Amino acid sequence: MKVLVTGASGNVGRYVAHELLQMGEQVVAAGTDIEKLHDLFEDEAEQVILDFTDSMTYKKALHDVDRVFLMRPPHLGKPKDLFPFIDAMKQNHIRFVSFLSLMGVEKNSLPPHHKIEKYIESAGIPYGHIRPGFFMQNISGVHAAEIKERNQIFIPAGRSKTSFIDAEDIGLAVATILHEPDKYQNTAYTITGPEALDYYQIADILTKVTGRRIIYTKPGFLRYRNYYVKKRDLHKAYVNVTVALYFMTRLGTAKEVTIDFIKLTGKQPRSFEAFARKHINCFI
Ligand SMILES: NC(=O)c1ccc[n+]([C@@H]2O[C@H](COP(=O)([O-])OP(=O)(O)OC[C@H]3O[C@@H](n4cnc5c(N)ncnc54)[C@H](OP(=O)(O)O)[C@@H]3O)[C@@H](O)[C@H]2O)c1
Repeated sequence: MKVLVTGASGNVGRYVAHELLQMGEQVVAAGTDIEKLHDLFEDEAEQVILDFTDSMTYKKALHDVDRVFLMRPPHLGKPKDLFPFIDAMKQNHIRFVSFLSLMGVEKNSLPPHHKIEKYIESAGIPYGHIRPGFFMQNISGVHAAEIKERNQIFIPAGRSKTSFIDAEDIGLAVATILHEPDKYQNTAYTITGPEALDYYQIADILTKVTGRRIIYTKPGFLRYRNYYVKKRDLHKAYVNVTVALYFMTRLGTAKEVTIDFIKLTGKQPRSFEAFARKHINCFI
């Protein structure tokens, strides 16, 4: 049977699919943009249209599938946006789902991931939640424009520390549990990078790696929200969720360093400096 990878063109999904293929699994790569999927996977993996907001797309996506990597697209801010698809997984007797959750949601019901985890559990689908810390890809992705164009990191995290993890490492952890679902039934793993860094330290590492002076500007929430909604034209729901997450980060919720990644994979997670060197093109 096949493994359905939702958000297969996303930061994490692409690596989940890649790692599963390496393990010899048959992968169905899903998303709303079939051309993007084709460009990424060509003949390596089947591709299917899946839109969580359109239940007509569920049947084809779940055909011949027994395991699912489930992610919540960032702009779908309400937990109930994913509930119809979770119901469809149950009806289709999916034997294991790995949900891309978030570090700390077991103690915090504010982020949508908390209710999604609970809904999966109450549906009775065997699960393996992966709760990662903040992705290194936030810095090489959504926040790279300010680094490249203005040599600034524009994130409202104050002086707090974050145990950043590379999405490639998350992909490996997810694929590991999807590959051996019986071993990981009804589990949850909090995975992080090897160290907790504040954004001044991130700026220092980027300065060292790029050879340009990069500074952390430590904006307030209002400046950050206005800039990303009005100037960068990002989806309001997405920016609002990130404001809530950075608020929590300031309270110290993102700094825990765990060894779950090592336990799952037997490997060390990538450091931010190694990540910045690997993805140097995002910053120059
Ligand atoms: N960033 C972080 O630091 C962090 C930390 C912990 C947890 N998370 C969680 O990770 C998740 C985001 O993962 P990511 O960064 O890998 O995602 P991403 O790169 O933003 O990609 C989003 C994916 O969702 C797909 N998508 C968009 N609309 C869809 C729809 N209506 N139905 C089905 N698929 C749809 C997109 O594919 P198409 O374009 O083909 O539709 C795309 O592949 C969020 O839930 C976030 O809260 C993030």
